[in-house]
Amino acid sequence: MKHFSIACLLVAIVIAIPVGIFGKAILELLDVVNQKQAPTSKPDPIAQKSLAFPVKAWHSVEGFDQNLAVMETVFWDPRDTESLRQLIDVSDSLQGKSVLEIGTGSGLLSLCCLKAGADRVVATDVNPAAIENTKYNSRRFKFCDRLDARLVPLEEPTAYSVVKPEEKFDLIISNPPWVNGKPETIEEYVLYDENFGLLKSVFEGLEDHLNPNGRVWMTYGRTDAIKAIHELAKTHQFELIPRDSRELSQLPEEFFPGFVIEIRKKLLAPKEAAKPEPVN
Ligand SMILES: C[S@@+](CC[C@H](N)C(=O)[O-])C[C@H]1O[C@@H](n2cnc3c(N)ncnc32)[C@H](O)[C@@H]1O
Repeated sequence: MKHFSIACLLVAIVIAIPVGIFGKAILELLDVVNQKQAPTSKPDPIAQKSLAFPVKAWHSVEGFDQNLAVMETVFWDPRDTESLRQLIDVSDSLQGKSVLEIGTGSGLLSLCCLKAGADRVVATDVNPAAIENTKYNSRRFKFCDRLDARLVPLEEPTAYSVVKPEEKFDLIISNPPWVNGKPETIEEYVLYDENFGLLKSVFEGLEDHLNPNGRVWMTYGRTDAIKAIHELAKTHQFELIPRDSRELSQLPEEFFPGFVIEIRKKLLAPKEAAKPEPVN
């Protein structure tokens, strides 16, 4: 019996040492294999062990050399942002810039901005899984030192609720919820923005959070939401520039990819800017 116990102990040591030494390497190797695999809805066992929210799928995205993780309840439909990502890619104006992304989901757009040379990105979302997802993807792509992901409290889901009063950005981007409706679950926040409250709050804080030459790129795939942007821009005196060659009036009520609209401060006409102060 004694010999049997000693034999068991020796076997355990012989197995445990290599597993201990090589275990980490094997896990890393599995992770690499996982990253390279085609998009799948099969959950990743390693991610599930170390993360509060399980990975639902891995997706390959053009321009990224590894797959992106997308966690349970987090939005994934890259068709929404095709035009916006193209604009980010071809734009050399992101070099050294500060960016705020409102409603980051998996972090896809924020990562595109960092890849395009942005200096720092603040990414917000109401969904805790989206925040963990964005942090996770930023670690995978080695951008975590330049990306600050912040959870927006559901009690105050406005555009700048987790932005400090003095914080300003060169670029604000968003692929926000498009439909005017009330979200009932955290997953429904990807779709619904009640009375376009989030969109309104973007405009209300722009003066305070946009740098003087800053701009906003928003993408929408619904004509009613784009009409709401036009109204808000008029009210708040911002200029709208369509960054899309499609004719809005020719588009159906809902469409893909999202239509990119640039919002920026109205440039004063030279005459208006040089107007003398009224004399009393
Ligand atoms: C259509 S998804 C876009 C996600 C990601 N940007 C993308 O394009 O893949 C909209 C995102 O906005 C988030 N969201 C909704 N309301 C929000 C709010 N008030 N503040 C911050 N994020 C919000 C949702 O949770 C969701 O992740």
